[in-house]
Amino acid sequence: MARRKLVYEGKAKILYEGPEPGTLVQYFKDDATAFNAEKKDIIEGKGVLNNRLSEFFMTGLNTLGIPTHFIKSLNMREQLIRAVEIVPLEVIVRNYAAGTMSKRLGIEEGTALPRPIVEFCLKDDSLGDPLVSEEHIIAFNWASQQDLDDMLALALRVNDFLSGVMYGVGIRVADFKIEIGRVYEGDYQRLIIADEISPDSCRLWDLKTGEKLDKDVFRRDLGSLTDAYAEVARRLGVLPEN
Ligand code: C5P
Repeated sequence: MARRKLVYEGKAKILYEGPEPGTLVQYFKDDATAFNAEKKDIIEGKGVLNNRLSEFFMTGLNTLGIPTHFIKSLNMREQLIRAVEIVPLEVIVRNYAAGTMSKRLGIEEGTALPRPIVEFCLKDDSLGDPLVSEEHIIAFNWASQQDLDDMLALALRVNDFLSGVMYGVGIRVADFKIEIGRVYEGDYQRLIIADEISPDSCRLWDLKTGEKLDKDVFRRDLGSLTDAYAEVARRLGVLPEN
């Protein structure tokens, strides 16, 4: 078989050229990184779990009419996706204080926020993905006002979906990050959810015990990362067979 053309290699995923124009193959690696790649490891099986979990969340969103890049699963580590032009912003939604919000604002981790709070960070590893305001986004033309309104609406819809689904299996969604891509349909531009939605990009806490079931297990050396992700997959009924 002809070797596929590599399009982009990131910290946790690789993108290859897809079989049709406008498609890509997204491969989930086992690499784990944290603190802007200052902490690194290879966690066997993580890619398989994230591929399956991202497929599960993206399929649910597609079904509800919240558009995503996901087309279909290809195998244990790969999925076929729509090629998008990534908006250079990370969109973070927070329901409970944690991570950089707790640090920045001095709010104790675990504090319920008065309402979901959406933040935008510039996607730039060399700057450590700094938090930016809507003023910055418009002034520097990273997105238009219409894009911003659409991204906010998409982020809140994803939050309602994710929080509801996870509540059903006894898990609290403290916060998560999504990436958004542009697709062009004729003269028309649409924004869709891209990248991945997995325990790598969410904070997931057991509703009863508060146990962390997300990448904080790796960031803070709290135990086995794959055990935590497998527990999420098991509760959702999507644990890949070994
Ligand atoms: O680190 P911070 O508290 O800002 O992260 C908020 C949420 O966004 C967390 O769920 C984290 O896993 C996710 N995130 C991410 N990728 C980044 C930054 C944050 O997935 N580059």
